[in-house]
Amino acid sequence: MDLGDAKELSRALGALMQEAHTVLAEAKGTPELVARVTGHLGCDLKNVVSITESFAAWEHANLQRGVDAYLARHSPQAEWFGISGQGREHNDYVNMLAGSARGFEWFEIGAVDYATAAVGPDETMEVIALGLVLTRSPGGSPVVVGLRGPQEHGAPQAEVTVLAAERRDAVAVRDEIGRLMREHDVYRGQVLSFAWSEHRGNDLVSFLPRPAVSADQVVLPEGVLDTVERHIVGIGELAARLREHGQHLKRGLLLHGPPGTGKTHTVRYLMGRLAGSTVIVMTGSAIRFVSEAAGLARRLQPALVILEDVDLVAMDRSFHPEGNPLLFALLDAMDGVGADSDVTFVLTTNRAGVLERALADRPGRVDLAVEIPKPDAAGRAALLRLYARDLRLEADLGPVVAKTEGATASFFKELLRRAVLIALRGNAAGTGNAVSTLTDAHLGTALEEMLGERETLTRALLGSGEHDADEDPPVTVSGEAYPGDHGGEGFTMFIGRDR
Ligand SMILES: Nc1ncnc2c1ncn2[C@@H]1O[C@H](COP(=O)(O)OP(=O)(O)O)[C@@H](O)[C@H]1O
Ligand SMILES: [Mg+2]
Repeated sequence: MDLGDAKELSRALGALMQEAHTVLAEAKGTPELVARVTGHLGCDLKNVVSITESFAAWEHANLQRGVDAYLARHSPQAEWFGISGQGREHNDYVNMLAGSARGFEWFEIGAVDYATAAVGPDETMEVIALGLVLTRSPGGSPVVVGLRGPQEHGAPQAEVTVLAAERRDAVAVRDEIGRLMREHDVYRGQVLSFAWSEHRGNDLVSFLPRPAVSADQVVLPEGVLDTVERHIVGIGELAARLREHGQHLKRGLLLHGPPGTGKTHTVRYLMGRLAGSTVIVMTGSAIRFVSEAAGLARRLQPALVILEDVDLVAMDRSFHPEGNPLLFALLDAMDGVGADSDVTFVLTTNRAGVLERALADRPGRVDLAVEIPKPDAAGRAALLRLYARDLRLEADLGPVVAKTEGATASFFKELLRRAVLIALRGNAAGTGNAVSTLTDAHLGTALEEMLGERETLTRALLGSGEHDADEDPPVTVSGEAYPGDHGGEGFTMFIGRDR
């Protein structure tokens, strides 16, 4: 037998098989699953058009909301149905219907598969992991919508499928679901962070509670918080007006200073202050999601993208000897957000010097750099009072303030915690009763402890003020405005050191 005969034979066998399945299907009647879909669409299965759109797994709740809103509008009575049968998670709807139509009893109408998805810091919603619903296109033609979430083994994504007799109906439905999805976005106005799941191999978005830090809980030199606030909050409040005048809204703030001086604390204050804004927080290696975050920020503006401790990223040269891919990705993402977007990037760093080159080479990303310094004497006294909280300070703060020159803000938080501990222990021979007053003795003992020889590491970690030989000299930042080449005004920043 030559090759031609073999091909002929296999073609004939194929035709025979198909014929057999058709006869079988006809003999048994059209399976219910197929009949439900084709009956609704009013066309043969072979003429059904299928359009699928996929989203990152973390969009599942948004997709559900979009479909829910679509159904509420076009067929509020519609009921979901599922598909039963092994391997349904691996097959697309058309394959399942086709298999079923050919008489393979793999897939039948079954229960809807559900899952849960987070829609807030402590709120979840039920989402459909696999299900179908009969509905109509915006023009009134019958369509079938299928929704599916990330499956245990499949690709980590959520997808919507529209089945219709005409392609344009399927497209119209998909487009309207897409619009409704954005309108009902669960991430709008939330505080979010990106993470990566090793296990699932996908990126995840999680919700964080919005911090509530008041201005009087932030102890900074006169005018510092005002400057930051005017730049970030002030521009946001005048967004519409600034747009009318053709001014750009996008902002870039760099907070730099030694560890423990309140960069993160200031950022947390801003998050609370901008209650209506979407906030995306990224630290360390999560900065690899910066382009997703920038996209999300643009979509959900007004938005704040917070990139914490960017020096860690900037110093990682493990991939490229001459540059840092993550840092470039970060700068690109900042660049990619249009100048008219109400999006603020806030970068924090302990080592402004490390960023100096990268930022100077590509100006316009950061238009305000603010140093968060170690507290001066007035600041140190204020921090002592702040962290004494509800306790009365019957102590002379002068000596403590004098001995803590160069200590960071976080040092005082710990100092007061220790003083309270000492007060509790000493109170009424250790009954552990509540205390109401802190005295010189309490504060003095706590301070001795923290400045003591044996706590050198603690002292270094909290920033005691003793000069560390490796430490960079203080950094000064100045700048000048320039006409930007990216469609907006810019600001060139010079960061230098006082040697
Ligand atoms: N300027 C400040 N005013 C009040 N509390 C502060 C200040 N700076 C730091 N703290 C306290 O110390 C903690 C650690 O400071 P943090 O903001 O994380 O420092 P960093 O500058 O390293 O980001 C904060 O959570 C806050 O409780
Ligand atoms: Mg910090």
